[in-house]
Amino acid sequence: MAEYKLLLEHTNDPKFRTLEGYQATGGYTALKKALTMERSVIVDSIKIAGLRGRGGAGAPAFLKWGGMPKEKKTEHYLICNADEGEPGTFKDKELLENCPFLLVEGMTLGGYTVQGDVGYIYIRGEFMDGAKALRKAIDEAYANNLLGKNILGTGFNFDLQIHMGAGSYECGEETALMSSLMGERGMPRLKFPSAPFPVVSGVFEKPTLIHNVESYCNIPFIVNNGPEWFASLGASTKNSRGTKLFSVSGHVNKPGNYEIEFGTPLKELLELAGGVRGGKLKACIPGGSSMPIITPEDVEVAIIGYEEMGAVKSMVGSGGCMFFNEHTDIVKLAWRTAQFYANESCGKCTPCREGTRWMVQILERICKGNGRPGDIDLLKQVASQIDGRSFCPLGDAAAWPIMAMMRVFPHEFEYYIEHGHSMVDSVPSLVGVP
Ligand SMILES: Cc1cc2nc3c(=O)[nH]c(=O)nc-3n(C[C@H](O)[C@H](O)[C@H](O)COP(=O)(O)O)c2cc1C
Ligand code: SF4
Repeated sequence: MAEYKLLLEHTNDPKFRTLEGYQATGGYTALKKALTMERSVIVDSIKIAGLRGRGGAGAPAFLKWGGMPKEKKTEHYLICNADEGEPGTFKDKELLENCPFLLVEGMTLGGYTVQGDVGYIYIRGEFMDGAKALRKAIDEAYANNLLGKNILGTGFNFDLQIHMGAGSYECGEETALMSSLMGERGMPRLKFPSAPFPVVSGVFEKPTLIHNVESYCNIPFIVNNGPEWFASLGASTKNSRGTKLFSVSGHVNKPGNYEIEFGTPLKELLELAGGVRGGKLKACIPGGSSMPIITPEDVEVAIIGYEEMGAVKSMVGSGGCMFFNEHTDIVKLAWRTAQFYANESCGKCTPCREGTRWMVQILERICKGNGRPGDIDLLKQVASQIDGRSFCPLGDAAAWPIMAMMRVFPHEFEYYIEHGHSMVDSVPSLVGVP
């Protein structure tokens, strides 16, 4: 199995960023086809295709599409989550910059299907190039009656707006994102079952369909090629269909975004990225910094799929795959990771606000040679008090990687505390702590 370019097929072609170039490759045939279809048939297609959300959790997409009210009593909104803050993940950035029409068409098609009035694309504040490419695409779509009033003469009206975030990781969490979009502080809200799902009451308390960039970009392919065709991709896995974009970084020879079919062995992704550089492989974080770290033996056997990655105690996550060579100091990696989550904690709940800072303090003193005999147990205790006890999943995301690093590399933590320095022969690396 090699790279399978579906979403990324035309990323190197500048013409793909123009309406003419996009249409020359079959762009907008899916929307035209969809506009002649019953809405319920499109929702069924999403179900048959087996598309799962690409934002991290992998929830079945049809549950959201099918959950939007069939009878329209008020405004319906769509949101595209383009906040992409998970360290190690940069695939949405590439889609925004190089495939803007794919997203615009996917969202417009979604708008038609769920009777949406307006779609908001919430873009991470740093993604200026992506925002510019998208602005151009949206303007061109409006100028050609592919957005706005009476789209292609069908009576369907749909507007698309860009909203720039301000670089807060927490604003990628869907309820915090909606608060931010409404002009409130980017803090999370109660979720189901304490509050309704966004499809019932989302942004502006109206039914809202929210998806990741990559999720929407898959939609035109499902409508154009058929759901059965889509479902045939990844059929070797239990329940992961289609392709997945992985941002590969760290100690590899060819870092970048790679698209593979679900069911591809993880070691083939490493091969696509040119293999490890600067030494032997020591570890891998397969799905973004909050996902549990795994060993080279795990990389050897891991199969990319939402359920399959569980066999090596990790997850597909957001697809931010980082490889580390033998010179990587795992304890410093844990410290650096903990710093990120402590900085990004919104402060709303105590376990995350306090716990993430305690983890940083303990890891800092270990890395500075001042670790204490009980520090490993203390760190485990703090992490377990954050995990599952925080208001939103950022707390879990902060605890999981630290717990996994202690589980997989316990000797490195013990050595640090006993000797006051790392057991690793470190060379200047990508994971240095400032
Ligand atoms: C702290 C945190 C940050 C998140 N950041 C993102 C993000 O940047 N992009 C994204 O698509 N989903 C992110 N998510 C997941 C979203 O809450 C949500 O599940 C997702 O946008 C749904 O899209 P999907 O159905 O296409 O996966 C984040 C979740 C958490 C808890
Ligand atoms: S877990 Fe709590 S403090 Fe942390 S980001 Fe979520 S709400 Fe904020």
